[in-house]
This record gives sequence, C-alpha cells and structure tokens, in this order.
Amino acid sequence: MALTRASKVCLLLLMTMFIFSSAEVGQLKETNMTFYLHEWSVDLNFTAVTTATNVTNATAIPVTGIPGFPWTLTTFGTMFCADDPITVGFDKTSAQIGRAQGIFVTSALDGSSTHVSASIVFTNATYNGSTIEIQGASHNYQSVNEVAVVGGTGIFRYARGYATFQTVYQNKANWYAVAKCNVTVLHY
Ligand SMILES: *[C@@H]1O[C@H](CO)[C@@H](O)[C@H](O)[C@H]1NC(C)=O
Ligand SMILES: *[C@@H]1O[C@H](CO)[C@@H](O)[C@H](O)[C@H]1NC(C)=O
Ligand SMILES: *[C@@H]1O[C@H](CO)[C@@H](O)[C@H](O)[C@H]1NC(C)=O
Ligand SMILES: *[C@@H]1O[C@H](CO)[C@@H](O)[C@H](O)[C@H]1NC(C)=O
Ligand SMILES: *[C@@H]1O[C@H](CO)[C@@H](O)[C@H](O)[C@H]1NC(C)=O
Ligand SMILES: *[C@@H]1O[C@H](CO)[C@@H](O)[C@H](O)[C@H]1NC(C)=O
Repeated sequence: MALTRASKVCLLLLMTMFIFSSAEVGQLKETNMTFYLHEWSVDLNFTAVTTATNVTNATAIPVTGIPGFPWTLTTFGTMFCADDPITVGFDKTSAQIGRAQGIFVTSALDGSSTHVSASIVFTNATYNGSTIEIQGASHNYQSVNEVAVVGGTGIFRYARGYATFQTVYQNKANWYAVAKCNVTVLHY
C-alpha cells in the first residue's frame, strides 16, 4: 500500500524527532565517594545461629547452606543476608548515610570467593532515596576486593563503575568488622 504524501511527511517528521530525542542524552559525570560499612555477624556455626539471642543485633546472618556442612563464609553454598549501616567516617557513631542491603553466597567450590549482590541505599541529604547496585566476586583471603557497580536509581540512573573494599577493623570476639569502601561511578 502506497503511503500518501501527508503520511510520508509525518513519518519523516517522526524520524527527525526520534533522531533529535536520542541525541539529547546528557554528559556522563564521574562521582567518587568513600564510606565505611559496619557489619555485626554471628558465630559462624549453624547450631549457634539457630539461637535467637545470637542474631538479635547481627546485620549479616547466614540464612542457608549445605545441610551437614558448617554455614561459614568459606564454605561453598552458604548464603548470607545483610543489612549493614554505612557511615561517613570509620567510627560507627559518625553520620549514617545509608545501608548496604543484599545477599552474598560463597560460590567458589573451595570457599575462596563469595559472590556479592547488594544495593547501597542512600539516606543522606545529597543522595537520599538513590541507590547503587553492586555485584561481583569477593575473595575471602584477599584484603582488598573490587566489585562492579552495575546500575543505580535516582541520581545514579544508568550508573556503572566499580567499588573497592578493604576490611580495616575486625573484632573476632563480637564478630564486628568495618570495611572501607571507595566507589567510582559514571552516571548522568
Ligand atoms: C575519581 O577517582 C579516580 C580513581 O582514583 C580518579 O582517577 C578520578 O580522577 C577521580 N574523579 C574525580 C571526579 O575526582
Ligand atoms: C552523602 O554521602 C556521600 C557518600 O559518602 C558523600 O559523598 C556526600 O558528601 C554525603 N553528603 C552529605 C550531605 O553527607
Ligand atoms: C549464642 O547463644 C547461646 C545461647 O544464648 C550462647 O550460649 C552462645 O554463647 C552464643 N554464641 C555467641 C557467639 O554469642
Ligand atoms: C543488642 O544491643 C543492645 C543495645 O546495644 C544490647 O543491650 C543487647 O544486649 C544486645 N543483644 C545481644 C544479644 O547482643
Ligand atoms: C530522605 O527522604 C525521606 C523520604 O522522603 C525523608 O523522610 C527524610 O527526611 C529524608 N532525609 C534526608 C536526610 O533528607
Ligand atoms: C580508598 O581510597 C583511599 C584514598 O585514595 C586509599 O588510601 C585507600 O587505599 C582506598 N581503599 C580501597 C579499599 O580502595
């Protein structure tokens, strides 16, 4: 069926508009940030975890693992659920700017590495309500780890980049650890 002259003009106009609108994507910005993640875990022993008192104040808890094996960070198949507070400074009483909420699953057969999948949910004034999605392999016997920033929401829509983590404090007696995190993201 032949197009009428009017519909051809219309189509041309639409195509022009499409070309114009697809050219309107802004410039990518680079944002760097540094923050501290606080984690209270539990005795990495399945029988202890079944006791409610042990998990009362924990922010990272093994929720499943291979039956008959210890549910530890270095045992293949253990899955943790975490909701760790994030602060501007090293001190846990410094200003809280968000939380790291997600899961991590030890997915190397020899227990050497854990797959991390988490949302950094910001609550501080500048980034309130925006999130960054992180994903990657974290090596359990390495002090510095890098994971990918695979996306984001709010001011971090279309984000991509990377995040490096380092455990800067660890108290094995109460299962408390602090990780310093540097994030570099490109976003609009
Ligand atoms: C962000 O950090 C990276 C790596 O340290 C650096 O190369 C880059 O210049 C920094 N960008 C800004 C905008 O500060
Ligand atoms: C919010 O947190 C980010 C990440 O640490 C930081 O760059 C920014 O300055 C913070 N803003 C305020 C107002 O605390
Ligand atoms: C877990 O709770 C039990 C019962 O309250 C207690 O005996 C045990 O010491 C606790 N373990 C840790 C690591 O807190
Ligand atoms: C949880 O934290 C509160 C407040 O710091 C403390 O009073 C309580 O003893 C803690 N509970 C456990 C089981 O550690
Ligand atoms: C962040 O947003 C929530 C929901 O809109 C609001 O209740 C809260 O006061 C905001 N916080 C800051 C620091 O702006
Ligand atoms: C974060 O950046 C600071 C300053 O550049 C650097 O000293 C520190 O080693 C970095 N930490 C990680 C885990 O990348």
